[in-house]
Amino acid sequence: MCGIIGVVGSADALKILLDGLERLEYRGYDSAGVALVRAGETWRARTATGTASVASLRDECASAPEGFVSGIGHTRWATHGAPETVNAHPHLDCSGHVAIIHNGIVENHGPLQAELEARGHRFTSVTDSEVLAHLIEEGRADGLELLDAVRASLLVVRGAFALAAVDATEPNVIVAARRISPLVVGTAKGATFLASDVPAILDRADSFYAVNDDEIVRLGPEGFRAVDLDGVPVRLRQLAIDWDLETAQKGGHDDYMIKEINEQPDALRTTLLDRRRDDGTITFDELRVADEELRDVRRVVIVAAGTSHHAALVAKYALERWAHVSVEVDISSEYRYRDPVVEVGTLVIAVSQSGETIDTIQAMREAKRRGARVVAVANVVDSSLAREADAVIYTRAGLEVSVASTKAYVAQVAALELLALRLAQLRATLPAPDVEAHLLGLRAVGALVSRALGRRAGVEAVAGALAGAHDFFFIGRHVGYPTALEGALKFKEITYLHAEGYPAGELKHGPLALIEPGVVVVAIATDPALHEKMLSNLSEVKARGASVVAVATDDDDQIDAVADFILRVPATEPLFSPMVDIVPLQLFAYAMARGLGRNVDRPRNLAKTVTVE
Ligand code: AGP
Repeated sequence: MCGIIGVVGSADALKILLDGLERLEYRGYDSAGVALVRAGETWRARTATGTASVASLRDECASAPEGFVSGIGHTRWATHGAPETVNAHPHLDCSGHVAIIHNGIVENHGPLQAELEARGHRFTSVTDSEVLAHLIEEGRADGLELLDAVRASLLVVRGAFALAAVDATEPNVIVAARRISPLVVGTAKGATFLASDVPAILDRADSFYAVNDDEIVRLGPEGFRAVDLDGVPVRLRQLAIDWDLETAQKGGHDDYMIKEINEQPDALRTTLLDRRRDDGTITFDELRVADEELRDVRRVVIVAAGTSHHAALVAKYALERWAHVSVEVDISSEYRYRDPVVEVGTLVIAVSQSGETIDTIQAMREAKRRGARVVAVANVVDSSLAREADAVIYTRAGLEVSVASTKAYVAQVAALELLALRLAQLRATLPAPDVEAHLLGLRAVGALVSRALGRRAGVEAVAGALAGAHDFFFIGRHVGYPTALEGALKFKEITYLHAEGYPAGELKHGPLALIEPGVVVVAIATDPALHEKMLSNLSEVKARGASVVAVATDDDDQIDAVADFILRVPATEPLFSPMVDIVPLQLFAYAMARGLGRNVDRPRNLAKTVTVE
């Protein structure tokens, strides 16, 4: 998704912009640009299509004049208009003095552009964003300060945005605003910064502040001030940031993905830290919902997208088994367009690693509008979802940079299962010793994940043997089903090979027609209660010529009869198995993708934070 950076008041302005854009690369982008501004002069450089990398933007910037202390930079993920230089941000107004960058979508850009053109404005791009530059230009022409010109333009645009504007006739000022898309401000002595997220300015700023929806900030070298849409001053909330730059870097690994896969035991440990009081009560410090309310929940609805949706599916099994509560899991982009029923006692849980996924934020808003209490399960502290929900549980997996989510997934499963155990305590649906045993089991998962990670070489050998295969089916039963979905998603997003996840029992209802020699079936076969059924499913696909890869427990001596390749994992309680069984599937996807020369951290067409619907 688009990334935004800005700086005002530093002799290092251009370097700060380019370094910051590099750290925003993980968000995904197809073009990049910067604008530097000083009295009477706006200088701009942009790159796109094929050459779109911050490295090529650096080359473009080699000819930048000296002496600028302020500017804005942008990585663009195309929504309106092709990923071409002409559509790359920053966009200029007719005078060439105003430059804007924008993350999000201006939904009413069509009529606005028509009106602006009728008033004589010339557009040079095919983007929804450019209207902002011309609207601000009009405000400036009417004598408004840049802050008020931006504010006036926001009163007429609809949609989602984080935006920043500069004007060479009001130099040493950046005005930024936010509605839905994330934005943070950073301060240091003599300079002020702006970014889509903290790592981009982590090494430059000393203090960080979150911009909320419909707040407008004026940044100058001496600091910033903020107002709401009515021009009334507002205070930005200071963020508690405990990341160091090292955390945001690869830490010696080839890429972020393998670094984050290896961080899973730590992610699990941190997620589970301090969650049990001495009397055995499970506690979430950050959860602001009364015990009575949780106890009286009649129905749980979980909304989430992608990998977070798969974690939600796992949670359904745990909530139903342990807390005896009826659970519905919904894809967040579908939830708000139905007529979802929210009755007294409906608890909605919105799950998102980033906390900025627009589909999930909108689903949460719809649920709140209908009267539901919403608990967010988020990884990014102070993210939009976390702020807007009635309560939040943080997964504490740490910064996840790779587009393919790994450590956040296991942390989500752990946090949701912990919540299921808390509900079981409150509703007295599990005897206390059972809750205690499950807590111990949950705490032991990190060590099992470490053991699974230690088998990477074996997984790589299987991936090597299957090089050249194109069609993959991932199948599972019970919680093996969401594990199959997640295995298939991970596999397709980084290998670009066809992969589908299915409940194993569904094969015979259609997909079996596709099974033939050359097809690979990856089966999650770790559940003892369903093992026989899984063996039958695998015999069926083997009889039709498929190659079988089985994720099987160490003690499984029957699997050899049906599997061509076995990915061994330590055995655990079935409801905990998704966190262990996903490890060989992540490593398998990773090894296959690396074998194919894919960019595992930034797979094509995908973005880490999806802030458009
Ligand atoms: C995961 O590997 C994907 N990149 C993607 O499905 C992701 O999980 C989804 O976009 C939801 O993101 P969120 O958890 O930040 O809301």
